[in-house]
Amino acid sequence: MASLPLALIGRPVLRKKIEFVDAERIKAGELKSFVRDMIDTMRKNDGVGLAANQVGRDLRVIVLECDGSGRYPDKQGVPLQVYFNPKITSYSKEKEQDWEGCLSIPGYRGRVSRSLSVTFEALDEKGEPVKKTVHGFHARIIQHEVDHINGGFYVDRMPDLQTWMHLDELNQHLKKNIKD
Ligand code: NI
Repeated sequence: MASLPLALIGRPVLRKKIEFVDAERIKAGELKSFVRDMIDTMRKNDGVGLAANQVGRDLRVIVLECDGSGRYPDKQGVPLQVYFNPKITSYSKEKEQDWEGCLSIPGYRGRVSRSLSVTFEALDEKGEPVKKTVHGFHARIIQHEVDHINGGFYVDRMPDLQTWMHLDELNQHLKKNIKD
């Protein structure tokens, strides 16, 4: 396992629509060590999700996990998951605004409106098709990571850019100690 260097906002690969992964490559195990490195990178940086283009790779793969992250201290746990070619097929009408950050935009948080539930299709780590409906913080992470592989950032989804702030200011405002 190895932690990979993060691509930061401004790197062209983060604004690109990322390439689909052939199921045969997954089934052949070609991407196993890269996915392990992505998980290691997410964990080392205390993230709850990571897209391959955030470590500079042009592959539609995302990883997610929330297990006591200091970046999101009050959020529901989400078990480790790996998805290739994820595509959101339906969004709930009900939305919720919450604070969101990104490992590619260190030090900042903003209010982002996301659907409370989403249904998505993907290939799992064995290359088998899966279809899932997820809710709450889990749905927020999926929406955030799928935006990444389509060349987007959470800031593109902010209804009010005036809520974009440095984490130090947010911690003072909320009287919390959210980590970056
Ligand atoms: Ni992000």
